[in-house]
Amino acid sequence: MSAFARVCALSELEDDTPKRVELESTPISIVRTEGEVFAINDICSHANVSLSEGEVEDCQIECWLHGSSFDLRTGKPSGLPATRPVPVYPVKIEGDDVLVSLTQES
Ligand code: FES
Repeated sequence: MSAFARVCALSELEDDTPKRVELESTPISIVRTEGEVFAINDICSHANVSLSEGEVEDCQIECWLHGSSFDLRTGKPSGLPATRPVPVYPVKIEGDDVLVSLTQES
């Protein structure tokens, strides 16, 4: 079980603009949207593509290559071609610090 670690500042995050960070060599996309902050593994479950380069809408992040969208709360894809979920991670906000734990939520 991993402890929470700081990955970035809350003030660095723009709404609906994913930020790629790394924690213990794991690439993570940090997304601030709809008043919340989410952490999702940055690699699409379909191929080795960075999700942080995709667009955010309706609490989902879209893979720019083939268009599967992943729910930021659960990591589940909403449609093909991806069929497997992407890991999502718990987030804590402390002041201006965004903390993530690599303990998977789902
Ligand atoms: S690489 Fe992401 S949907 Fe194909």
